[in-house]
Formats: sequence, C-alpha cells, structure tokens
Amino acid sequence: MKNDLNMDSRRSFIIKLLGIFGGIVTIIISIPVIGVFLEPLARKKPETWRSVGNIDKFKTGETVLVDFPNSSSLPWTGTVSKTASWLRRVSDTQFIAFSVHCTHLGCPVHWLPDAEIFLCPCHGGVFNKDGSYAAGPPPKNLSQYPVRIEKNEVQILASPIPITTL
Ligand code: FES
Repeated sequence: MKNDLNMDSRRSFIIKLLGIFGGIVTIIISIPVIGVFLEPLARKKPETWRSVGNIDKFKTGETVLVDFPNSSSLPWTGTVSKTASWLRRVSDTQFIAFSVHCTHLGCPVHWLPDAEIFLCPCHGGVFNKDGSYAAGPPPKNLSQYPVRIEKNEVQILASPIPITTL
C-alpha cells in the first residue's frame, strides 16, 4: 500500500516535471517564430535625405547619374555603402530621381540620351524617359526616390533598394 502511494507520487512528480520541461521547450521554440511575425511591425524603414549637389550643377532636361550614401550606411562600410540614381531636372524647381535598379532582377540600368530610354544590359529591359516600362522582362516601371531642394542643394530621400516582388 505504501509502495503504491510512493509510486503514484513519483509518477505524478515525473509528469509535472515533463509538463514544465515541455512548457519551457515550447517557449524557447516559439520566441523566434513570434519574432518573425512581429519583426516587420517593429522595424522602421531607414530613410535619410542625401545631398547630391548644388541646384546649379544640373541643367534642365538633362538626366545625369548621381551617387550618394545609402540610408543605412555605416562608417566602416566604405564604397559598398554608396548607391546611385538617375537624376533628371524637369524644370527650375522640379527633379525626378529614378532608381538605377531594373525592376526585373535589379541590374543597374543605363541612360541612353540619344534614344531617351533607360536600357538594362542584363536581359534587355527598356524603360521610357519617364521611367515607365517600355519592353522586355521588367514587371513594372522604374522606382523613384522623393527629391527636394533645401538651401539650393538637391536632396534625395535615400531608402533601401526597392526589391521587386513577383
Ligand atoms: S535585370 Fe533588367 S531586364 Fe533583367
């Protein structure tokens, strides 16, 4: 009789211990899974205004390549922290900054001034001078960065490279 009681309390203790152990393992496993779902809500998109030159440097109607540090550059990242944009001065006060990254797979597009098109060397994607899709595999228009003029400096709102999601 005493042995049965002892066995029951031992069995009950082991079951409780396994329950606690299972609970701890479940919590440990679920932390990264919960993190995956909450991370996009917590992450703030890094955006920074970057100066690309005095307004007088750009002629109306011209499209030129400008480079600037990306929005999340760090002091030790060097050259890889730079990104670029095709910048067009549309009027005295209006600029358009196109992403250099093709919306197909991200290759840098070239501006062909005589034809007034952007051409992607990777798979032949073509965009019109306003960045709209013209031909080839790209699924959408070239992305644009917001542009502003501050104290005669043209500034581009640097943000992470727009990645195409098919
Ligand atoms: S990456 Fe530009 S067409 Fe494929």
